[in-house]
Amino acid sequence: YDKTEEEFLSYKEVINRAAGIAWRFPLIEMQGVPLRNYIVQKWSNISAFCPDPSDMLIATYPKAGTTWTQEIVDLLLHNGDEEACKRASTSDRFPFLEIQYPPPIPSGLDLLKNMKPPRVIKTHLPIQLVPKGFWENKCKVIYVARNAKDNLVSYYHFDRMNQAQPQPGPWEEYIQKFMRGKVAWGSWYDHVKDYWKEREKRNILYLFFEDLKKDPRREVERIMRYMDLSVTDDVIDKIVQLTSFKNMRDNPMANYTFIPKIMFDHSISPFMRRGEVGDWTNHFTPAQSQMFDEDYARQMADVDIPFCTSI
Ligand code: A3P
Repeated sequence: YDKTEEEFLSYKEVINRAAGIAWRFPLIEMQGVPLRNYIVQKWSNISAFCPDPSDMLIATYPKAGTTWTQEIVDLLLHNGDEEACKRASTSDRFPFLEIQYPPPIPSGLDLLKNMKPPRVIKTHLPIQLVPKGFWENKCKVIYVARNAKDNLVSYYHFDRMNQAQPQPGPWEEYIQKFMRGKVAWGSWYDHVKDYWKEREKRNILYLFFEDLKKDPRREVERIMRYMDLSVTDDVIDKIVQLTSFKNMRDNPMANYTFIPKIMFDHSISPFMRRGEVGDWTNHFTPAQSQMFDEDYARQMADVDIPFCTSI
């Protein structure tokens, strides 16, 4: 395997060289799940990826708290060493399994090739599309879920600023698209339900954004135990501090300002936007909220997942 010059550059440097790319990649449905065209093109390589048993997966629906959980996990692995966790950006530290871009931007698989296990891998794939190797090798899997309305609001603003995703269109239409699962990575409802139903059988640690917000210490300890790690109470306190919204917002290696403006335009909406529970009340009208809740009750009738929409 020949290393090209690009593989030694950071994401930031490579994206800066990616002039001339037509952004806002269209979605193509793959097994009923809308995914970016480049992901679908490379699907056979992605699904054939086989992790090492020591690799860990952080799986989320987009905007459910991926970056937050990644930072907690990295700090736990480095015993709270802040500087060690600033060795590289979030995108360079955690390969994003299925991500694919036109050249010269490296794919998730390119990053994985250049990194030795144990790796902490990120995915937004619904459970049925996660490469079988993760289950065969009994890799640890952390899933993070966020209540539908806040997740939708966060995704709407993200789709405005992320030039690699389709335009969100008007707010009213976006709500409909989200409800019908016509956004990148598909239906929020199926995503959270399918991981939930499998969590015991497949030993998935299923976390909630709202719990991380309400009692971060308890959740950091749960993650630590799941990872078979043990750090002191002081280190736990330090990790809680370092992963507060304010600290992560100001951390250039975690706040996604390392992604150049041609891809992430923080002047439209910052990646670290609000970081709150209940921001949906500032977006949904009472009529929209009622319509959404009625549909939610239908789509979620077969499970009882303890989501909360305010804390
Ligand atoms: P908002 O858009 O509601 O602010 P992901 O990492 O899965 O893309 O999720 C991004 C969302 O998580 C954004 O939500 C972001 O602000 C929020 N977030 C990231 N780090 C956070 C933290 N340390 N505390 C609270 N929220 C955080």
